Amino acid sequence: MKNKVHKVEDVARGLKHAQRVLVMIGAGVSTASGIPDFRTPGSGIYDNLQKYDLPYPEAIFDINYFREKPEPFLAWAKEFFPGVNYKPNAVHYFVRLLLENKQLQRLYTQNIDGLEVMAGIPEDKIVAAHGTFTEAACIRCRGSAPIYEVKEHIMEGTIPRCATCDGLVKPTIVFFGENLPERFFLYESDVRACDYLICMGTSLEVWPFAGIAEFVPEGIPRLLINMTAVGSFGSRKDDSLLLGDLVENVTALVECLQWKDSLVKLCETACDDGFVSIESR
Ligand code: OAD
Repeated sequence: MKNKVHKVEDVARGLKHAQRVLVMIGAGVSTASGIPDFRTPGSGIYDNLQKYDLPYPEAIFDINYFREKPEPFLAWAKEFFPGVNYKPNAVHYFVRLLLENKQLQRLYTQNIDGLEVMAGIPEDKIVAAHGTFTEAACIRCRGSAPIYEVKEHIMEGTIPRCATCDGLVKPTIVFFGENLPERFFLYESDVRACDYLICMGTSLEVWPFAGIAEFVPEGIPRLLINMTAVGSFGSRKDDSLLLGDLVENVTALVECLQWKDSLVKLCETACDDGFVSIESR
């Protein structure tokens, strides 16, 4: 059942009729913007953390490890702090086109790079399930801290501390061992309201995020666009899979939906040195 790979024309035919599309995405969506994912062997973040001498790769995002040893995360954050270096790509703009076509119910993202907002998707349509780099808080008293100050510390290689209790401060991205934001639980009503699910660029290894795909009721079409088959995709009658490079599959899908001109225009607004234009692929 895992090999339920579909033709992009058939997928487009089904998607055209959807009115409330739930989209869930992970780090694979941003690889075309130059940001590595976590688990792809070789290029993924977890295969490239040797210099931090961690007990296990995920420790870099583990709240208990951070409490004892914040330096590895802070050094990593210096390199990956979202900013002007990264731009949205065709996959982010595909979601924007779903929005413009009044089909987007909600976008659930595990990504902390902020590229969804940069692609023009309004914040009420986004659930940043693993938090964002736009705010910061103390991990002891939970008091909020100015993110610009925390960024300054990160860039200077010093440790940000709480002005109230001297606890460690970090951007409000969700670490292993921390709760997801309240807003994540919107998924309980969103899965019941949607009439189509698209899942892109995630290994679905991390819960509870991965559960969204499971809680979508049987009978609702689920589409996976990813390098490989993941989760339970392929096990339901209404599942379809487009496997391989995301930008290539999304571009082909957009062509079938006759949205290519709009996608090219949106990509051009972001197009700059290093940005992967769909025209150049
Ligand atoms: P992963 O790195 O686990 O999975 C990325 C998925 O995207 C993999 O299945 C890749 O094959 C696929 N992929 C990468 N590049 C692709 C491309 N160009 N075309 C098609 N597919 C591609 O990333 P996530 O699932 O987002 O959490 O990871 C989930 C969570 O684990 C992250 O939010 C982070 C991490 O630990 C925390 O730190 C709390």
